[in-house]
Amino acid sequence: MAAIQDQRLRQLAHVLPLGSRIDARGHLEVGGCDVVELARDFGTPAYVYAEDDLRIRARAYVNAMHARHDDFDVLFASKAFPCTAAYRLFAAEGIACDVASGGELALALRGGFDPARIYLHGNAKSLDELGEALDAGVGHVVLDSFDDIERLERIAGERGARQAVLIRVTPGVAGRTHAAISTGQADSKFGFGMDDARRAIERARDSEHLDLQGLHMHIGSQLLSLDAYRPAIEAIATLGDFPVYNLGGGLGVAYTAEQHPPSIEQYVEVQVDAANELLGRGKKLLIEPGRSLVANACVTLYTVQTVKRNVSTWVGVDGGMSDNLRPMLYGSVYEAFFADRVNPDPAHPGERCHVAGKHCESGDVIVRSVPLDDPKPGDVLVTPATGAYGHAMANNYNGIPRPPVIFCKDGDARVVVRRESYEDLAARDIT
Ligand code: LLP
Repeated sequence: MAAIQDQRLRQLAHVLPLGSRIDARGHLEVGGCDVVELARDFGTPAYVYAEDDLRIRARAYVNAMHARHDDFDVLFASKAFPCTAAYRLFAAEGIACDVASGGELALALRGGFDPARIYLHGNAKSLDELGEALDAGVGHVVLDSFDDIERLERIAGERGARQAVLIRVTPGVAGRTHAAISTGQADSKFGFGMDDARRAIERARDSEHLDLQGLHMHIGSQLLSLDAYRPAIEAIATLGDFPVYNLGGGLGVAYTAEQHPPSIEQYVEVQVDAANELLGRGKKLLIEPGRSLVANACVTLYTVQTVKRNVSTWVGVDGGMSDNLRPMLYGSVYEAFFADRVNPDPAHPGERCHVAGKHCESGDVIVRSVPLDDPKPGDVLVTPATGAYGHAMANNYNGIPRPPVIFCKDGDARVVVRRESYEDLAARDIT
């Protein structure tokens, strides 16, 4: 039994948080904590992160950049996991930060990021958000439209400020991924197309209140092939010579045992080599990974509530599209297994089941057609690789309180975001 468990764990190792193991009782351990005990102590659903995993991946990015390039910064694309503890952890690791709204900016500041190392993004920033960024003293605003240029120029002028900016370019090269998260194509709501980019560059250069330092691109997310980066960099190289280039994020992660994305080192090698060759040496290079910093650090724990057999077997759990929207939005596929029996035994692979959420629509299925070993109410079910865009996109559909976030390290677990209460659900209601 132990050997089979180990074999399954090996297949899943790159999907699970670094350092995960099966303990003597056959239970999954994350960050040194038995997840069956975590489910009992903190309730379910719960997002459980191995804190060391987050740190190790941040260091892997920094080390990979350091090995290839002198002048660089790694930015935590904080939309992937915007909570104070995550901001605090990555700030302490010494990396910089990208925010996509005033709210993320407020969280990043609260988490201790030096404003000078914060980059503000957004295709529809409000005047208020631009003002908040200037007042906080953010290092860079990434300009996304002519309206953005005009408004930032105006409010920087009002403050007598000169704001460092980058111009976001859509290079006309799309990353191969789900259409909803591909951003490099010409017909995109993000950034300036190649022709407009030339005009935007001139416009920003002429401005007294904008200090144009360089260009930004982000061609898409969950990219399992690195092929599109080079042509995209080739495209932006035609726009002139700048001291700073932000090459975006996008490195894909393994959601299932069969997926084998490029490593952080391979991603950095492709980006930096292409940049050095095509943009010229001695540039400041920025990259802004989100998903690949945080996705695999986390597993979500659920408790099985019901098992129903009709045409299929439906294993109903206590969460669903309120804690993980990705299967519903992008058709994303996840692994699922029980916390106290990580295999199915290959000799008895278990029954094909659909893991259904508890929400009031048929699309609320977290994992389809996954073999589960004798599912029954009370079982703790684990879905790995839920650390990116899970907590970030959680919602209260059907009045479900959002789950807690639990950080585990060396066998100690601490709640860094508490579970929402029913009072929280009504906290904004005025009666
Ligand atoms: N930089 C910019 C400007 C971005 O728009 C994004 C992601 C990133 C960096 C980070 O990309 P990453 O390294 O995480 O691929 N909710 C979707 C993902 C949306 C990504 C949006 N932008 C999902 O759950 O797949």
